[in-house]
Amino acid sequence: MRVCFLSPVGVVGGAERVLLAWAAAAGDAVTDHLSAVLLADGPLRDRLAELGVAVEVVPIPAALAALGDTALKAGRGGRSLARLVVSAPAALQFLRRLRSTLHDLRPDLIHSNGLKTHILASITAPPRTPVVWHLHDFYSERPVAKWALKLARRGPVGGVAISEAVRRDVATLLPGFPITTVRNTVDTDRFSPGPTDPTELDALAGLPPASAGTVRVGLVATYANWKGHGVFLDALAKLPRDLPVRGYVVGGPIYATAGSQVSRAELEQRAEALGLTGRVGFVPFQPDPVRVYRSLDIVVHASTRPEPFGLTIAEAMSCSRAVIVASAGGAKELFTDGIDAIGHRPGDVEDLASAIRRLVDDTSFRASLERTARETAVRSFSSSGLNGQIRDLYHRFCSR
Ligand code: GLC
Repeated sequence: MRVCFLSPVGVVGGAERVLLAWAAAAGDAVTDHLSAVLLADGPLRDRLAELGVAVEVVPIPAALAALGDTALKAGRGGRSLARLVVSAPAALQFLRRLRSTLHDLRPDLIHSNGLKTHILASITAPPRTPVVWHLHDFYSERPVAKWALKLARRGPVGGVAISEAVRRDVATLLPGFPITTVRNTVDTDRFSPGPTDPTELDALAGLPPASAGTVRVGLVATYANWKGHGVFLDALAKLPRDLPVRGYVVGGPIYATAGSQVSRAELEQRAEALGLTGRVGFVPFQPDPVRVYRSLDIVVHASTRPEPFGLTIAEAMSCSRAVIVASAGGAKELFTDGIDAIGHRPGDVEDLASAIRRLVDDTSFRASLERTARETAVRSFSSSGLNGQIRDLYHRFCSR
């Protein structure tokens, strides 16, 4: 079977890490030719190539790349549309190039990994080539996404949802659309507990080595404005000053959708205004997050919107970390509160602060979370069964 992945971006964020896991699992067992078309160049290109995937880049014009619900909400919709009209010739040329690239690759199946490619695949896939949508997000509350998916739904043969919560959301939006839930996996051998020198993290944050006994608490997330960076900083500021805690904000602005990101300068200003200077460090996006997780004692997930899945939660649990989860959406499906992680109410600063405090104070509870988190990860997130699942799915979708 010839399978072609279609990715709207060339960066490696959560959805792309999942695509890489699928490429690795689908590799030999399922497909005899794997290709990928990326709409932007970036590190994803080499990562896929290392797995033997034939990669092509068909760059999307900037005006199309910047379109999204956030731009619309931020009142930039008019500007985005105006740019789009001006760049119409480039857009048409791009569509032609995408169509001919897909045609030349002769896929038996196209696997699209993001909203823009879900829509574009419906327009540009060769006739009678089944398209599968990998659904990484909640769409029913997003006006543009919702409308676009409804319009494009005749194109694909089915969808893969990363969590039950995402499946339910898309099912309400597109009744009757066939969706299968395939939970994201993590490489539990790579994301594993192990020795590390946490002062490397201090150095990456530009801080002096923390004194012995300091509890390192970190948020690992892209700079999307709903990942709760502000909530995390506010919660750190609520902790007693003499509590031996140092905060870390790890990540960077990796996606390009207009108006959807916080900036490092904004976060640093907020930290300063909260009196956190020297008690919180900023670490840029790390291509290898394993060392980051191993250096942290507590990993915080603080998304203020329901998280579709929350790959960092699963990765941190797999590294045997004590994790605090904003309990909503797909993230809620990943843990049992008080057993292998603890939950807090999304966006609730007091609740997050008291969860952090509880884990700092109660080291034996923390140790028990660390132990069970690893057990849960190995049992529920391991990628060992993924190739079988992919094989069944691809065959089922191809026979539709
Ligand atoms: C998206 C979702 C996130 C998920 C990731 C991988 O980024 O927002 O929750 O973990 O995709 O599926």
